[in-house]
Amino acid sequence: MESGAIFTGLRPNIIPHHHHQLCPSRSTIKLLPPLYSGKRHFYKLSKQLHFACFSDNSGKNVDTLQVASPSSNVVPELADIDWDNLGFEFMSTDYMYMMKCSQGENFSKGELQRFGNIQLSPSAGILNYGQGLFEGLKAYRKYDGNILLFRPEENALRLRMGAERMCMPSPTVEQFVEAVKETVLANERWIPPLGKGSLYIRPLLMGSGAVLGLAPAPEYTFLIYVSPVGNYFKEGLAPIHLIVETEMHRATPGGTGGVKTIGNYAGVLKAQSAAKAKGFSDVLYLDSVHKRYLEEVSSCNVFVVKDNVIATPSIKGTILPGITRKSIIDVAVSQGYQVEERFVAVDELLDADEVFCTGTAVVISPVGSITYLGKRVSYGRDGVGLVSQQIYSALTSLQMGLTEDNMDWIVALK
Ligand SMILES: Cc1ncc(COP(=O)(O)O)c(C=O)c1O
Repeated sequence: MESGAIFTGLRPNIIPHHHHQLCPSRSTIKLLPPLYSGKRHFYKLSKQLHFACFSDNSGKNVDTLQVASPSSNVVPELADIDWDNLGFEFMSTDYMYMMKCSQGENFSKGELQRFGNIQLSPSAGILNYGQGLFEGLKAYRKYDGNILLFRPEENALRLRMGAERMCMPSPTVEQFVEAVKETVLANERWIPPLGKGSLYIRPLLMGSGAVLGLAPAPEYTFLIYVSPVGNYFKEGLAPIHLIVETEMHRATPGGTGGVKTIGNYAGVLKAQSAAKAKGFSDVLYLDSVHKRYLEEVSSCNVFVVKDNVIATPSIKGTILPGITRKSIIDVAVSQGYQVEERFVAVDELLDADEVFCTGTAVVISPVGSITYLGKRVSYGRDGVGLVSQQIYSALTSLQMGLTEDNMDWIVALK
């Protein structure tokens, strides 16, 4: 869910699209300069312009880099893609970040590499025992050409918390944030123009070393890749429709629901696919003990509004502590709402005024209806609820640099 609906009228300060430069031949690969060293070097230049190609794993040329002196003070050219129709699908970009360390050691030095497939032993811990975590954050293009990250240190801290639970070493907060910055700047031409979307940043931490008996892997890889994205749900800012799942659970007390480990996600696919087959957008999970309290949706947190009170399930080990959730609580309080973090019973959905979901990917997604035990409750008959809209507007204005960052949440890259 991006800015389009609310911020139409604002015109981003961007360069118009240019045609892809055709790669002269695959032999150009030899001419590539040394790997990216932390400074920006994708520029559209009148002088000293070099074209270089690289190939994907099928051996096809997949893209063209324009490489020039890092000191050039010119504006980067946008990738030549259809910016008006971005969804939430993977699109390969130019560079990814990689850093490795052995078990018992600390991560020390990572580097950018051309984006491409990675090699893993069939016996890697991640493949056999699911020893892995991921993160998700976004970079936004500001109207003045700057590039903004939203609270990246929070993602770093959550990764560290998850790594502790999954017996993995993890990068420091500084290493994480630095690596994110480098990766975003190296892929700058893939950041959508203001109002068209954002650059989704996907850090991964995995047990990449070979292990046969169940044990922590002997080697770990921290990797970051990025992809331009638009709306997560096909509904965009339009309300989504949820079904409450009563048989399958996303998490159990004492399990790993509170960290962003990869196994939490494969486990929800069955319920999610069944829901989608019936025309729902996603699934709302209940707690596995009482089967009565709301937990969260497959990949976002949930809020329930009644009068001036906004309630959200408290974080108790089975719910992912969303960074959007945390930010929205602060934004809502600053706007005069009473926010309650507590057990939220499924019955409360019956007389709620509004329900909305939150997450990096969805930002804020208003809920149009929830179906529970065959009964459907609808919300927002007049369109998107007032509270959802107000908070969405406040949060996205901050994320895109349209309002002053009094919270100190924004990291500007230029
Ligand atoms: C299960 C789950 N809950 C909630 C969220 C929202 O978290 P955040 O706001 O940090 O993106 C996510 C997305 O990362 C998620 O995967």
